[in-house]
Amino acid sequence: MVAGTGGAERRAGAARLPEPRMQFRNTTERYGFVARVFHWAMFLLIGLTTFLALNMETMSESDKAYTESLHRSLGVLIGVLLTLRFAWKLGNPQPADLPGPAWMAPAAHLLHWLLYAIMLLQVVAGIGMSQADGAEVGLFGLFTVPAVMAPDTQVEDFFLAIHEVNWIVLTVFVVGHVLAALHHHFADRGDVFERMGIGPPR
Ligand code: HEM
Ligand code: HEM
Repeated sequence: MVAGTGGAERRAGAARLPEPRMQFRNTTERYGFVARVFHWAMFLLIGLTTFLALNMETMSESDKAYTESLHRSLGVLIGVLLTLRFAWKLGNPQPADLPGPAWMAPAAHLLHWLLYAIMLLQVVAGIGMSQADGAEVGLFGLFTVPAVMAPDTQVEDFFLAIHEVNWIVLTVFVVGHVLAALHHHFADRGDVFERMGIGPPR
């Protein structure tokens, strides 16, 4: 009898415990805080590094050299974040598929994996191009990796072509990705921005 009452009290006490304020890891319902920070920080960094790169051509030589080195460091930072983000994804549960036709979930998974691969290729091509140009690659002075190969314009042009074409592919995929997210939000009235919103997950 007494034990039973105690159990009821404990259950009542447990019910009064405050909800955890922030969900760091993913759940099967939504992305956690860490995945959201990775997603939106990388979105901003990719936007910034692209903006810098596309404005380099019209700059004076000294501004161009400075901006190119900033672009490289931002690109390396994107590469570091990409690695950590991917490891985090592999170690976390994935939110359940959104409701929709049978082809939609596999297509969404494929698009997400391809986005990871395209981001990686962009970073690798950038580093390859810099190495073939005899330029060191670093992360805002935190570390610097000198060029390990002799300058080679053919190799540089090869990586530059990949860097340029792959950037267009990345842009096309991101546009498709944004349109899919907006479609889920407005047409399907899904909770897609609850799952990957900018604010902390509730
Ligand atoms: C550089 C631009 C972007 C890239 C590379 C990117 C990449 C990704 C990737 C790889 C995922 C899957 C996350 C995972 O499973 O690990 C994802 C999810 C998501 N992204 Fe983006 N994204 C970008 C921009 C955006 C923008 C601008 C929006 C908003 C309109 C957006 C909305 C979303 C949403 C809502 C999800 C969650 C999808 C779900 O619930 O399954 N993304 N993004
Ligand atoms: C996701 C990351 C990156 C994005 C979105 C990006 C994007 C771009 C874009 C759009 C250009 C202009 C291409 C053109 O029209 O000529 C460019 C140029 C360049 N990028 Fe990147 N980049 C990234 C990462 C990197 C990395 C990691 C490096 C090297 C460490 C790098 C090095 C360069 C260099 C040296 C140029 C100038 C090429 C030239 O015109 O000579 N990028 N990048």
